[in-house]
Amino acid sequence: MRRPLAWSTHFVGLLGGFVVLSNQTDASWVDPDTKQAHLTTQPLANEDNRAYELVFSDEFEQAGRKFADGSDPRWTAINKNDYTNEALHFYSHDNAHTSNGVLNITTVEKENVYKAFNEHTKQFYADKKYVQSGMLQSWNKFCFVGGIVEFSAKLPGDPHKGGLWPALWMLGNLARATYVGSSDYVWPFSYNQCNPKTRQSQEINACSLVNHYGLAPKSGRGSPEIDILEAMQGEPGDLPNTFIQRPYQSTSLQVSPGIEIDRPILGKRPHEGHWYPDLEYSSQNKSDLNPFFYGVTLVHKPNSYTYQSDALSANLQLKATHYSKQHVYRVEWEPPAEDGTGGYIKWFTDGELIYGIHGKSLDIMKTEIPSEPMYLLMNTAVSSHWGFPQPCPEGCSCKCFECGNPECACAIPSGYCDNFPASFEIDYVRVYQAINESKHILGCSPEARPTATFIEGHAKRYMTEGQRRPLEPVVTGGGSCSSHKDCGGIERGVCSASGLCECSEYSAGPLCLAHAAFYDFDTSKQPKIFSYRHIHFPSSLMVVVSLLIGGFLLSMASAVREKSKEPKYSNVNGGTSNLSFQTTGSGAGVGSYQNPDGATFTVPANQKDVTYCVIDGRLVDQDHN
Ligand SMILES: *[C@@H]1O[C@H](CO)[C@@H](O)[C@H](O)[C@H]1NC(C)=O
Ligand SMILES: *[C@@H]1O[C@H](CO)[C@@H](O)[C@H](O)[C@H]1NC(C)=O
Ligand SMILES: *[C@@H]1O[C@H](CO)[C@@H](O)[C@H](O)[C@H]1NC(C)=O
Repeated sequence: MRRPLAWSTHFVGLLGGFVVLSNQTDASWVDPDTKQAHLTTQPLANEDNRAYELVFSDEFEQAGRKFADGSDPRWTAINKNDYTNEALHFYSHDNAHTSNGVLNITTVEKENVYKAFNEHTKQFYADKKYVQSGMLQSWNKFCFVGGIVEFSAKLPGDPHKGGLWPALWMLGNLARATYVGSSDYVWPFSYNQCNPKTRQSQEINACSLVNHYGLAPKSGRGSPEIDILEAMQGEPGDLPNTFIQRPYQSTSLQVSPGIEIDRPILGKRPHEGHWYPDLEYSSQNKSDLNPFFYGVTLVHKPNSYTYQSDALSANLQLKATHYSKQHVYRVEWEPPAEDGTGGYIKWFTDGELIYGIHGKSLDIMKTEIPSEPMYLLMNTAVSSHWGFPQPCPEGCSCKCFECGNPECACAIPSGYCDNFPASFEIDYVRVYQAINESKHILGCSPEARPTATFIEGHAKRYMTEGQRRPLEPVVTGGGSCSSHKDCGGIERGVCSASGLCECSEYSAGPLCLAHAAFYDFDTSKQPKIFSYRHIHFPSSLMVVVSLLIGGFLLSMASAVREKSKEPKYSNVNGGTSNLSFQTTGSGAGVGSYQNPDGATFTVPANQKDVTYCVIDGRLVDQDHN
């Protein structure tokens, strides 16, 4: 992993006496391209007057970055079929790159044949997808507990033509999105009670006297979900029981266990006392409860393994400008106290409150505001359950959704095919944490919420056919080049005589285009979740330092790097033959991270009798008549 000695001493030499200062910064996940003005932020939540500092950022300024497994210290672009949520796309690592100062997730029409499993015949067969898109995850790389996340993004496609499903979101590190095997019985639990009713459906529960894999006894764990943005485009027009029309933004918290009896009816508003109380919306009537998504039932056999997830969700009216310009999407997440009470999550778009959930609102199910280490995700999905005609129009088979095939035209939203190619352009991602706040923690496996040993012990759940391990180690250099420019220019890397990039200490990736990133602390000995985190370098001094040495801030981090530990990944038995396949089923676990029914064009006539559930990993409408 280390660069040739001559190369690194050259850099350290350049910096001379400054190196010692870098010892004290904790800016190790901070992109040096982040401007000084953004090294701190003011919380927008009224009740919060703490000082915040930047702990992670990616400004995507360096053009030409790619995110295939092992290419980037912050992100992994997955390269596999998406089995969740009736996905119509294949995720390819070719569909995410940086250009013109943005992360560019492109969604295109392209055929992909992949190996699928038929649950009835128990045979593998070649299945085909007609859309290719991208998903980046910081899973098991960068995670945090508590803080402020801010994305700036321009949404993909046409605001009035449905079918695309761009998302900026967060998930607990115990589940890996689209790897369905990792999410069942884990997603989206945020529950630390011993309850005979849920002890079977919650894999890591508070009844267990022994939880194995380094997990604490009598401690309920899971992978809750916070959706910062999910955008629904489509034809404008009134929707039932809300004043919001398309296009809109959904913001949600998804937790289990959910309410089981007298649940709100999809498309209607909840009856008084039948849903979570005291939810906060925009004071200017710009946001509203989302009546199109209350969660899903994950049905398993025997019945004691079935469980309910709840989605507490609000919608905000979007405008055409959200699809043509950058807008700012933010969440402020305050974890609960050690006893699981309190905390909040608040969503803001362009600085205005859209939605707020307090720990007290969750009392009715005794679930908690998340305290799990969570990672970041950015993707554009395409799903027949998101913005597509529902229910299936009369006389339509709704079996195909392919552009240009006349048989499929009745099943797809009008103008859908004009959306391709689409680009979801993300200008930056920034994460802040309150200074000296012991509840705000960095790391994917903090001591009080460890995940590392569990993931190592269940590695197969987090990987798919063709993967040797869940994540490849991140390379530094080795990409082919013909000039230094190909390796990011002289201060990032050089092109060797053999035509391969050699990176400086401060860059990473095959072409040295990514900024190195790491935790300042020894990740094998992480601080207790509710104890003092680490000594902070005052942000005022950080500003001075960054002014002084500008672009060399990153270089200085080299001194810290000596002590740092890259995340470690387990090496599972090498071969691929014994990997279990994921089935073609959908909707299970993380799969169900969104509305199983989209915002329907019309509410199904019989919807009172319809529940959406997962059977053998397949999302189905179950008629209870
Ligand atoms: C994003 O990628 C698409 C397809 O390559 C391209 O047309 C578009 O201009 C890119 N956007 C930016 C801002 O570079
Ligand atoms: C604004 O909010 C109030 C109170 O919730 C509600 O009665 C009213 O109908 C809303 N206005 C619109 C235009 O929806
Ligand atoms: C953080 O804690 C340190 C050590 O206790 C203290 O010196 C410093 O003033 C605190 N900073 C803030 C912003 O509260």
